[in-house]
Amino acid sequence: MIELQTISDLRRWASGERAAGRRVALVPTMGYLHEGHLRLVDAARGRADSTVMSVFVNPLQFGPAEDLARYPRDLARDRVLAEDRGVTALFAPSEQVMYPAGSEIRVLPGATAERWEGAARPGHFAGVLTVVAKLFHLAEPDVACFGRKDIQQATLVRQMVRDLDWPLEIVVVPTVREPDGLALSSRNAYLNPDERRRALVLSRALGAAHEAYRAGRRRAGALLDAMRPQLALEPAVTVEYVAIAEPRALTPVDVVEADTVVALAARVGSTRLIDNIILDQGLGG
Ligand code: PAF
Repeated sequence: MIELQTISDLRRWASGERAAGRRVALVPTMGYLHEGHLRLVDAARGRADSTVMSVFVNPLQFGPAEDLARYPRDLARDRVLAEDRGVTALFAPSEQVMYPAGSEIRVLPGATAERWEGAARPGHFAGVLTVVAKLFHLAEPDVACFGRKDIQQATLVRQMVRDLDWPLEIVVVPTVREPDGLALSSRNAYLNPDERRRALVLSRALGAAHEAYRAGRRRAGALLDAMRPQLALEPAVTVEYVAIAEPRALTPVDVVEADTVVALAARVGSTRLIDNIILDQGLGG
């Protein structure tokens, strides 16, 4: 695995791959890798000859009161995991490299970014799209892989690619879960054992929505009714929103269909977690 740190390192590597006729896949991450990230690598390797993974904790996507300073980082461990999984090149730039003094241009998302995560985290998606646009621009990948756990992020990246006519394929890879249902997330590292147990209400509530759908319920309100008793079991878990929405722009719906998304965000202690399912796939999708 080659390590790249500067903009010119990445550009040179990417143009070498293109000159050699190799298809390039990009896996953007903020590091502290877990199996969810590594499945993105698997998806990338299945679609391209070379995979470049970026590891960069992007300050632009954190609000002033968010967890930028304590976001978990372990580049030495990430290197080993990425190499073992078959990453061809690891791009781990410094903040100075990505945003040199004076850099101020941002990619602004539209209305799709105003609800759910966007409402809870003002400016978050402008930060995400700016760094993703920069990575697309530098690596010029043929394909880029994102996790479905951050479903609104994936939706907005797809929309950016569509709106800006970027010639690349976006692949959205299903969420990876612990055996008890907890969605893998780097932020799970913040949970103490008691919070870890309480956090299971997120996936259990989504499971209840899936069961209600399988039992023939088609009103969003009926799905919410099915989720409420699960969420009530853990009053110490503060639900920020439950979204029942169509998959294209995550607009709320009253009547659900197979591809309807059920997404939620909740605080478990000081940790903010998100999770979602696609109705006909449930927790396995
Ligand atoms: O999903 C993430 O880890 C980040 O939002 C991303 C896409 C790497 C951009 O910083």
